[in-house]
Amino acid sequence: MTARIVLLPGDGIGPEVTKEAELLIADLAAEYGLAIEMQTELIGGAAIDSTGEPLPAQTLQACRGADAVVLGAVGGPKWSDPDAKVRPEQGLLELRKALGLFANLRPVRLHPKLVDASPLKPEVLDGVDMMVVRELTGGSYFGDKVEGDDFASDSCSYSREEIERVVIRAGEIARQRGGKLTQIDKANVMATSRLWRKVTGEVMQEKFPDVECENMLVDAASMFIVSNPSRFDVIVTENMFGDILTDEASTLVGSMGMLPSASLGAGKFGLYEPIHGSAPDIAGQGIANPFGMLASIAMMFDYSLGMQDVAQRIESAIRDCVSNGECTHDLGGSLGTAEAGSAVRRRLRETGSSEVAQG
Ligand code: IPM
Ligand code: MG
Repeated sequence: MTARIVLLPGDGIGPEVTKEAELLIADLAAEYGLAIEMQTELIGGAAIDSTGEPLPAQTLQACRGADAVVLGAVGGPKWSDPDAKVRPEQGLLELRKALGLFANLRPVRLHPKLVDASPLKPEVLDGVDMMVVRELTGGSYFGDKVEGDDFASDSCSYSREEIERVVIRAGEIARQRGGKLTQIDKANVMATSRLWRKVTGEVMQEKFPDVECENMLVDAASMFIVSNPSRFDVIVTENMFGDILTDEASTLVGSMGMLPSASLGAGKFGLYEPIHGSAPDIAGQGIANPFGMLASIAMMFDYSLGMQDVAQRIESAIRDCVSNGECTHDLGGSLGTAEAGSAVRRRLRETGSSEVAQG
């Protein structure tokens, strides 16, 4: 197998965690004899500084020719002047749109060792294991914007097709997990939400009659995520609600640094990034948690490279590290970013690929 992977380290702690991703991929490529080519390109604030644009043409072109893209993080105080003409975040949004990555998968699973790292009570956290499917290329993120000194607006729109394709993805995941789908909206106020509810009902009835489906208002959902999170299995929701709810859900697992994500389109191509941001307050110190990034690489092996056994090995190596306290300070450990990354690679070497069935 030959695979081309584009690395986009970006800003803040992005380069530090992306380095660990690169080392992990290189180790696995060597172990399995995979021909993986990695190439690093600019995005976000780093790209603005050197080219004036958050998504240079060269970066987009490289991503279009790749099998998968790995992204660190974008943004930081240096580029956050409200009057700035270009922002680092635009680079990420344009990339998602240009690559047609409409489904953002954000799994939220709790490691038992981290129960105390969460601000919530252990009994509330019992059994937390959900997959949030966030629509990623529509809604108010991409609607027409008016921006003046005395008036501003963001328009939110969705077409039937945009809703259908992401609900189908979520339905497939719910079926595979043998679980339930919760579609979250604000149908008592928003017209787009009423279309979401209608189309979701139709898609589920027609294509997934065997999968249980419920609708929930986003305000109620945001309450249940912290009061009874284990009631959720698969969630599907529009772009902005998904952005907000997944940050909220990250509090369940103790550290935002733990959560991975995959952004997918119709095919196998995907963009993989931890859900944490650029964390400018700790950037450059070598203390950022790389596990959300490494878990994103597990998702890459699963969804883009079709190597589920590798994905599982990475996940269990991360789990073992956490169980043994080989982790960064946000999880109660004392390792730096590089040490935590190499702890995962060491565990992978210990469980060499010969011990598992090769796919
Ligand atoms: C995320 C981030 C982005 C988003 C920002 C950086 C534009 O918060 O991936 O969740 O809002 O989608
Ligand atoms: Mg976000």
